[in-house]
Amino acid sequence: MSLRLGDVAPDFTQDSTEGPIHFHEWLGNDWAVLFSHPADFTPVCTTELGEAARLKPEFQKRGVKIIGLSVDPLEKHVQWAGDIGETQGTALNFPLLADADRSVSTLYDLIHPNADSTATVRSVFVIDGNKKVRLVLTYPASTGRNFTELLRTIDSLQLTDRFKVATPVNWKHGEDVIITPAVSDEEAKLRFPEGWTTVKPYLRLVKAPELV
Ligand code: BEZ
Repeated sequence: MSLRLGDVAPDFTQDSTEGPIHFHEWLGNDWAVLFSHPADFTPVCTTELGEAARLKPEFQKRGVKIIGLSVDPLEKHVQWAGDIGETQGTALNFPLLADADRSVSTLYDLIHPNADSTATVRSVFVIDGNKKVRLVLTYPASTGRNFTELLRTIDSLQLTDRFKVATPVNWKHGEDVIITPAVSDEEAKLRFPEGWTTVKPYLRLVKAPELV
């Protein structure tokens, strides 16, 4: 069955380019991005892994670990990591799960037989510090993902977990946010003493609170 938002990300033990991963132990209390890619030695995946490696410091700043997966065996991952370092200007700096027995792919519903009966789809799961699934995205094999969008979504999730706000269309870190409708104007005066702009009674914009 497919995973839904709010579900606990299933635990597993699987080989990776950084040794066996006991997933929940590896997560600890951190957030994580777990993403699958269709196959090693493919062009789109090569660029995605390069970008994820380049952005690792940005994920780390937010307390987020990164981990990739495909059903290719470990030897292939290791050989391909060499190509990533050679072509992407950065070494692979996070674990890639070698899910040759498809155990993780089955747990996370990563093989969609009507798209491809053998390769994993291009899925992403954002998992929070309580091991709950907070975002699920699935892209077709021919479309590379936007890893900046993952950072943007994590910024939104971490901000809206902490304050009674939501983030509007195309929001980016630092831009104004929306006071959630459940907050009355009376409560908003206490939470946002510097004031806000009322566009409609249900659409109130406020300077984003600082996540310290
Ligand atoms: C790729 O990663 O380049 C790719 C993988 C499967 C199908 C098409 C492209």
